[in-house]
Amino acid sequence: MPEEDVFVGREAALRQLVDELAAAAAGRGRMVTVSGEPGIGKTSLLRRFAELAGAPALWGSCPEHVAAPPLWPWEQVLRALGARFPQRPVPAPVAELLEGGTEQLVDGVDTAGAALRRFDAIVRHLIDASLAAPLVVLLDHLHRADPSSLRLLSHLVESVPASRLLVVVSYQPSEAAPLAETLAALARSGMTRIELGGLSMEDTRTLTGALLHEEISTWTAEGLWARTEGHPFFLRELVKLLTGERRLDQPHTAPVPVPVREVVLRRIARLPPAAAELLCVAAIAGRHFDIEVVAAAASVGIEAALEVLDAAVAAGLIVEDQQRLGWFRFTHAFAAETLYETTGRLRRVHLHRRIGAAARGGPAQAGRAAEVARHGGHRPAGTAGQDPQRKEVHQWNP
Ligand SMILES: Nc1ncnc2c1ncn2[C@@H]1O[C@H](COP(=O)(O)OP(=O)(O)OP(=O)(O)O)[C@@H](O)[C@H]1O
Ligand SMILES: [Mg+2]
Repeated sequence: MPEEDVFVGREAALRQLVDELAAAAAGRGRMVTVSGEPGIGKTSLLRRFAELAGAPALWGSCPEHVAAPPLWPWEQVLRALGARFPQRPVPAPVAELLEGGTEQLVDGVDTAGAALRRFDAIVRHLIDASLAAPLVVLLDHLHRADPSSLRLLSHLVESVPASRLLVVVSYQPSEAAPLAETLAALARSGMTRIELGGLSMEDTRTLTGALLHEEISTWTAEGLWARTEGHPFFLRELVKLLTGERRLDQPHTAPVPVPVREVVLRRIARLPPAAAELLCVAAIAGRHFDIEVVAAAASVGIEAALEVLDAAVAAGLIVEDQQRLGWFRFTHAFAAETLYETTGRLRRVHLHRRIGAAARGGPAQAGRAAEVARHGGHRPAGTAGQDPQRKEVHQWNP
């Protein structure tokens, strides 16, 4: 099996999808959302489910880098339906869509009546087909869908419960702002939510073993999990890097793999500049950081700092520490490390000093003493004379 096709874990999510399909097949159509951060495995889960569903799976995906005409994902779904059931008569509005008839329809030019008739015809076509045989519709990367596609999905929702359709959509929560209305419509229909997190330690071990065609030790699996928290894309890239350098047994000290770094930097680049800048300072403070210290080191007022941090929280790059008021944490160690590594060496030294001074200047608080020790000019043992590098992020602030 090619390495890309190796799939592990997600038993609970697959079971849920299979149960939903059973309900749909029994005439109680269902809607399911699959959400999770970039690279967590949404598309992989949908693909795996399509393989084992035992019912025709009709795919529609929303492209990232090219502009697509209105209703593009639905066009793919309807094409897949036509390929699967070539004998089924195709209603005129559906045929028109498949012949590229909507390319000239820009929102607003298409009259409301024409759009509604087209939507009705598409919904009817899908529902009728499902009544003959249960169908799975998979809409991947819904956060990139055009507005017409989202409206059609909301229109379909009402008809699903009386059909034999299982509609599964995937999206990234940090990009979900354009989906607010659609998700509300799905919620009203009683959709099922599947939220994907990282793979478990055991799945991390299984995936690594499958990629390397050999068992790995618990110690190595724990090290890989600690660096990636089971994020499958991060894990695959880390394993590739470590095996390339023949040091799989040293996951703790590997640099951030280049593809991971690129993904992190792309997510940072989407933030407002003030938020990106504050995160750079925060990354020098460590994976866990006290916003008051970071704001002071960055010479930003605390109110302004909290405001810009909201964007980073919404983007899923950091989360608030529920135990300690005013503390935040980078969602992934790799994100903190990427920012740390991409900050110039001299600037890092300078920022360490400022963070140490800011921690000393603030009110006495648990955690501050450690902060002072970390940044107050005392390098951790074993790093004297070295570039203060990623390792410190873990050593200082696990
Ligand atoms: N359960 C899994 N087992 C093995 N590999 C996986 C698993 N889930 C994801 N992967 C791998 O992780 C990488 C990212 O997965 P995938 O493309 O499915 O993520 P995604 O959530 O769809 O990302 P995006 O939000 O960018 O679309 C791929 O290389 C994929 O093969
Ligand atoms: Mg995907």
